[in-house]
Amino acid sequence: MKSIYFDCASTVAMRPEAISAYCDTAGQFFANPSSSHLLGSRAKAVLEGARESVATILGADPSQIIFNSGATESANTFVASAPIDTAVIVSPIEHHCVLDPAMRSNSLLMNVNRDGKVDLAHLKEIFKERRNGIGMVFLMAVNNETGVIQPIDYVATLMKKYSPSAKLIVDAVQAANWLELKGLLHLVDGAFLAAHKFGGPKGFGILLKRGDGWVAPLIVGGGQEFDLRSGTQDPAAALAAKRALEMAQSEIKEHNEKATVMRKAIVSQLDEVKDDVIFCADGPETVPGILSMIVPGANSEELLFLLDEAGLCASAGSACASGALEPSHVLVSMGYTKAQARSSLRLSFTGDEGEETAIAAGRIVVDVIKRLVRA
Ligand SMILES: Cc1ncc(COP(=O)(O)O)c(C=O)c1O
Repeated sequence: MKSIYFDCASTVAMRPEAISAYCDTAGQFFANPSSSHLLGSRAKAVLEGARESVATILGADPSQIIFNSGATESANTFVASAPIDTAVIVSPIEHHCVLDPAMRSNSLLMNVNRDGKVDLAHLKEIFKERRNGIGMVFLMAVNNETGVIQPIDYVATLMKKYSPSAKLIVDAVQAANWLELKGLLHLVDGAFLAAHKFGGPKGFGILLKRGDGWVAPLIVGGGQEFDLRSGTQDPAAALAAKRALEMAQSEIKEHNEKATVMRKAIVSQLDEVKDDVIFCADGPETVPGILSMIVPGANSEELLFLLDEAGLCASAGSACASGALEPSHVLVSMGYTKAQARSSLRLSFTGDEGEETAIAAGRIVVDVIKRLVRA
């Protein structure tokens, strides 16, 4: 039996073009890009070429792009850079790579509405009250569990008015396949991406920072990456990530269209069990490839086990390294009960899987729900 892979928000397969870029470069340009000899300078040229292209895609200068090990490292770097005497404002629906380090500092949580969007009235209150006592604001562009798109430009405008010295940091990890990044990030001070979410290699991150002197290195040593991230750089991974990002961004329109068709197909299959399903975030400002639901009366672990057994790879909440499931902090922040959050299910796809696959996946979900809830 061939499995249907609907866990694309966790990771996607590397694009063949990115694999080729990696293999060609890793063999040919193996030298250390910091070495001053000819082969070192050739490796450096590949690395810097990739940086230039990534900068162009993100609407930034190459000196504003730092390559590192992934989104988790970027988030930790930004949080650790917040001045000690300032507050860090965080949305409670952020990924744990932002929430966990932020909770250790002087942080404040903004409220989230039932629709999965940040409560702008509450945020405005925080800005008015704290004004220049705010160091950083973290708001993700697209939530990884619900797919809800957050109002980045509006928050940036509010900050300019009330807390102009604060830095706006955007987790753009789930946005790369769905939104044009240049426009999305034009007002932010910092942002980050993980290459494995858009068909690049795992363990490769892109950090964008505008302005000098406010980001402190988390990892020090040889002074690579403009002294902001030490460690020998990998030109092959940089080129593969750049190739994948170029492709993901050029396919946005097509993927949004195809995933919308797929989403409709799944939802229409689920109509058969509509009394047993709550769709968590189904507004227009949600990316089509993340479909989040609650199946009251079922437990996420059981759901995932039976779906997997029937040939559908899906997910729920945030799987930690052990694979154990926590009740989704995102759904709880949106006002769902812990019991409901323990009954969550996320189907995530790229659009390339096609409508037939979506229908087949929808049938599997319907059958499993009938077995679990109606048995
Ligand atoms: C929105 C979001 N931010 C950050 C991360 C962390 O990415 P990584 O584990 O690649 O560092 C993820 C991964 O699931 C994510 O979905």
